[in-house]
Amino acid sequence: MRITVFGTGYLGATHAACMAELGHEVLGVDVDPAKLAKLEAGQVPFWEPGLEEVLQRNIAAGRLRFTASYQEAADFAEVHFLGVGTPQKKGEFAADMKYVDSVVETLAPLLSKPAVIFGKSTVPVGTAERLGRMARELAPAGDGVEVAWNPEFLREGFAVKDTLHPDRLVLGVDRARPGRAEELARGVYAQLLDEKIPFLVTDLATAELVKASANAFLATKISFINAISEVCEAAGADVTVLADAIGHDERIGRKFLNAGIGFGGGCLPKDIRAFMARAGELGADQALTFLREVDNINMRRRTRMVELAREACGSLLGARVAVLGAAFKPDSDDVRDSPALNVAGQIQLQGAAVNVYDPKAMENSRALFPTLSYSSSALEACEGADVVLVLTEWKEFKALRPEALDSVVREKKLIDGRNCLDPEPWRSAGWIYRGLGRP
Ligand code: UDX
Repeated sequence: MRITVFGTGYLGATHAACMAELGHEVLGVDVDPAKLAKLEAGQVPFWEPGLEEVLQRNIAAGRLRFTASYQEAADFAEVHFLGVGTPQKKGEFAADMKYVDSVVETLAPLLSKPAVIFGKSTVPVGTAERLGRMARELAPAGDGVEVAWNPEFLREGFAVKDTLHPDRLVLGVDRARPGRAEELARGVYAQLLDEKIPFLVTDLATAELVKASANAFLATKISFINAISEVCEAAGADVTVLADAIGHDERIGRKFLNAGIGFGGGCLPKDIRAFMARAGELGADQALTFLREVDNINMRRRTRMVELAREACGSLLGARVAVLGAAFKPDSDDVRDSPALNVAGQIQLQGAAVNVYDPKAMENSRALFPTLSYSSSALEACEGADVVLVLTEWKEFKALRPEALDSVVREKKLIDGRNCLDPEPWRSAGWIYRGLGRP
């Protein structure tokens, strides 16, 4: 099939490359010429394991191209995926819909033949219906243009795997206007459906809410364990052992029960806020007040980490602090709302000299926090440190041995903000090891 994908960020670029991998002819569309030039040259503009290979293979096979021309996209296909960003509005909880709206406003007037626009971005419930009205009004093909919603559940770091082997596919269709969306989606995902991936067809609002609720649930699970970790700290218990024990209950499950400095990134924090804002608009704000607490618990973890660093140094004024990890999670160079950088920034504000090292996110970190100092290795970041903070659980940091750092640091003190290290070897080597929610 011929497919276009609007937006070439994490979501769009991955979706475009993976749809080509499934054998479709794909045209990726973006308004940013710099991104397009990179992608056309077979380079992914961000770090995502395995994606560059898929991109290059499909460009070489002639199945994947990129363009800035909406006219070319409108002429190319009848299936259009929409994967642009929905960031948090400045100073508000609500999501900013300007990029999503702008794609439909620009594309629809060019649709002179029937077409289906499949939204993939995370949006406030009601968006698909609104965009459907907008598209039908603006398109020369009128009622021949449909809007359906096909939310994306991919995780950064596993984007290719999650797209080609998803847990489930969800498609919201306009029940009031039965059209071709389901038939076309079944064509696009035929290979996955053959592999018996569950395919749930819903109305538009349910599909939009599936995504918002999935992210709200995940965020709640993390804040739950982080709240319990506060109690563990107060009581001298170990949250990692507790998580293993409760995780054995299949109804609970061990995944997403890792206590630490909390969740960040371009999705969970802004999505729970947008969800609360939308519920408020719908008069259902009370239903989601618990998400306010989920957010508060999460932000409190960052402050707690700063407190622990201060305790370790006596005072942060004039202290040297090594920060290992800047990305919001491992296997990603994404620093959007990264707990690690937020902690590093707060510590610097309190007068410490902060040296940051991350295996992949240095360039993005420098752009976002230019005043922090950056080192070219973990060892260099730890030179003369009064305390070492592990804030992103990269493999490289989990493999660190105390002997390698012994002679480099000023004080043998380590705070493990992700509970990703085994305390034993550090303590045996004379280090003061501190985890979060661990005795
Ligand atoms: C998330 C959802 O998982 C995905 O389904 C959705 O489509 C987009 O948002 P992503 O932001 O890529 O994906 O990262 P995820 O792996 O979910 O982690 C989010 C944050 O939670 C990270 O900062 C991570 O460090 C943190 N986290 C995760 C924890 O603190 N503890 C955990 O147990 C799990």
